[in-house]
Amino acid sequence: MRAVADLDAAGQVVLVRADLNVPLDGMTITDDGRIRASLPTINELSGRGARVLICAHLGRPKGDDYEARAAGGPSLWPVADRLGELVGRPVPLAADVAGPSATQVAASLADGDIALLENVRFEPAETSKDDSERGEFAARLAALASRYVGDGFGALHRKHASVYDVPGLLPHAAGELVRTEIDVLRRLTEHPERPYVVVLGGAKPSDKLAVIASLLGKADRLIIGGGMSYTFLAARGYEVGRSLLERDQIDNVRTVIEKARRSGVEIVLPVDLVGATDFVPEAAHEVYPVADFPADRESLDMGPRTRELFATKLADAKTVFWNGPVGVFEFPAFAAGTRAVAQAISECRGLTVVGGGDSAAAVRQLGFPDTAFSHISTGGGASLEYVEGKTLPGLEALER
Ligand code: 3PG
Ligand code: MG
Repeated sequence: MRAVADLDAAGQVVLVRADLNVPLDGMTITDDGRIRASLPTINELSGRGARVLICAHLGRPKGDDYEARAAGGPSLWPVADRLGELVGRPVPLAADVAGPSATQVAASLADGDIALLENVRFEPAETSKDDSERGEFAARLAALASRYVGDGFGALHRKHASVYDVPGLLPHAAGELVRTEIDVLRRLTEHPERPYVVVLGGAKPSDKLAVIASLLGKADRLIIGGGMSYTFLAARGYEVGRSLLERDQIDNVRTVIEKARRSGVEIVLPVDLVGATDFVPEAAHEVYPVADFPADRESLDMGPRTRELFATKLADAKTVFWNGPVGVFEFPAFAAGTRAVAQAISECRGLTVVGGGDSAAAVRQLGFPDTAFSHISTGGGASLEYVEGKTLPGLEALER
């Protein structure tokens, strides 16, 4: 894989695919980690006299055509503003993705300048499953530039036009963020030091059953908490009340639990839960053992015995991969479980990797410095799929 340093970038318009998909509260960025993580590549290219044209997505715009999506948003303007603050000069935002405004912005760049294209997912072809639709759009994007740098690690698992197709059309290289992320994930997947403990949280088992199945051959222990643990508890016959539940996944979860038992991989589940009356920050709540969870409550966090159990199961780990918060950490009253997991991992010696936008946002919001972990990945889905052993389409395209 070529690095940015190998690319003759000076004086060229370099299309940089970055992952600037930051969490927003209205139009306020609540965690700018992905923007900051994209700076090394942007600054290096700009410093070498490239004309840096950044392409990124934000959220998942809805609508059948470009007009509907652009009208519904979200626009990348808050990101352009923040990026401008971080690089110390305004970053112009094109009014479209690959239309007249983008062409004009690209043409007006001087050496070292930085500009941003509008949300690439306003173009329905970006995410199309149809190769020729994507190809046509990729050609329009590629026409804006003469070089391509893939640095959107968090989107490398997407077979999208700007991630997968454009690198085939221009001389290309992998950005610094992508190279750093892949280096760490390689250490995690090739000869991890043992015990290797994986903590999985987040909402849905359906998203993560495949990774769990593949980890059964690699990890020594799987700690499952948060939204997806309720389906695991239900599969073990427990009442989970109104907690998040994927009923149609219960059989699949049972199969995974059985496979784990046969392969000697320990699966650690919550033993007590924080049951709330509603999904709101100020909801009344109490701690219940899993065997005693009331039908009219919804679990929003792990209880104190679970926090202790998870910490014990992490204490001897030499390698840790954590993906997904284990409670609704956005509500302070329900952040204790996620805080306890972060704390226990930060005390581990060895390689500790926090994977994913949500987990990364969680540790920062809870006040952990980035240095508390070996690596905080900017990609949730991407790091999971890599750890799972899947080929990431965007990585494959950069390696070609
Ligand atoms: C992410 O936030 O996971 C990445 O930016 C990819 O976005 P997506 O999940 O909407 O494809
Ligand atoms: Mg995602």
